[in-house]
Amino acid sequence: MNRPASRSPKAAVEAAVEAARWAPSVHNTQPWTFAVTGEEISLRADTERKLRVSDAEGRELLISCGAALFTMRTAIRRAGYEPVVRVMPDPDRPALLAVVKPGAAVEPDEGVSLLAAEIERRRTHRAGFTGLPVPERLVEALVKGAQAEGGRLTPVAAPDAVAVLAALTRAAQAVQAQDRRFSLEVIRWARPPGSKRADGVPAGAYPREPAPTEPHFAQRDYSWRHGWGSGNGDPGATSTGVVAVLTTPGDTPEDWLAAGQSLQRVLLHASAYGVSAAFHTQVLEMSHLREFLREELCSGEYPQMIMRLGITFDDKDAVRRPVEDLLG
Ligand SMILES: Cc1cc2nc3c(=O)[nH]c(=O)nc-3n(C[C@H](O)[C@H](O)[C@H](O)COP(=O)(O)O)c2cc1C
Repeated sequence: MNRPASRSPKAAVEAAVEAARWAPSVHNTQPWTFAVTGEEISLRADTERKLRVSDAEGRELLISCGAALFTMRTAIRRAGYEPVVRVMPDPDRPALLAVVKPGAAVEPDEGVSLLAAEIERRRTHRAGFTGLPVPERLVEALVKGAQAEGGRLTPVAAPDAVAVLAALTRAAQAVQAQDRRFSLEVIRWARPPGSKRADGVPAGAYPREPAPTEPHFAQRDYSWRHGWGSGNGDPGATSTGVVAVLTTPGDTPEDWLAAGQSLQRVLLHASAYGVSAAFHTQVLEMSHLREFLREELCSGEYPQMIMRLGITFDDKDAVRRPVEDLLG
């Protein structure tokens, strides 16, 4: 049913940019800028913020921007408009990822309000989960939600397959930790306790010594020999949770943007039901390991994200740059 929107189109645009800041991004690089012209937002990739060692192609950068795009769409819906989106509208300007504007006035439904309420609340988890189960019906709904955005979320149930993913993650983490170029890049985006920076991963966003899970999925070493981190986490939180891989049929910039939109839809939906996600993308940053995973575990589809979903009661810090810094 069409009803008058609750906000003006201009207010919807402002709300969309404000909301997009809270999207997840690799190492919290926030690799995006927004240009507002009238009632239209241009989302651009900020390639200065690309991870040149671990993400030379810009795949993770575009997944991050895809998450920001889904967030903008959700905020525009919540403001009472159908978002009108053109993805990669100009082949001559590959950094222009999408142009978004509020279209017809539409009353936001319950599903939209549910997702929108999580935009600022959702946080990445970096440890084991409590043993509380993730409802199967929720996982089924997450799979459907990812599909609606062009990605495929596959929960990995077989213990052998979970063990392979965990082993690959540990191997990739160990190799990256030995490699000076990878290590320097992680350090560049890791924030010491008390840092005033508004990007990067804060020390309050991960426990100092999380209890290992079985099988164990290696965490990124954001504290890199400094012993940073907040507390030791919940010692009883040793559950791996539900392991899932997000894939796309192709591996083009459009696929990466779709993966990011699928990802954020999954994360907001999960968060609305008290379920958090942990990410382990080290494997996907090493082309030979990623190819192995694609062939052996992803039926030939391209893996874009490896995650664990579960329940946690830990508090986590989050930082974002102010809107003024993002307007290009
Ligand atoms: C493409 C992508 C890859 C990521 N990879 C990892 C990862 O390997 N390990 C991790 O702990 N977090 C990972 N993250 C989560 C980011 O570090 C996180 O989104 C960012 O620090 C902002 O924090 P927040 O999600 O709590 O708001 C990834 C996020 C994205 C979008």
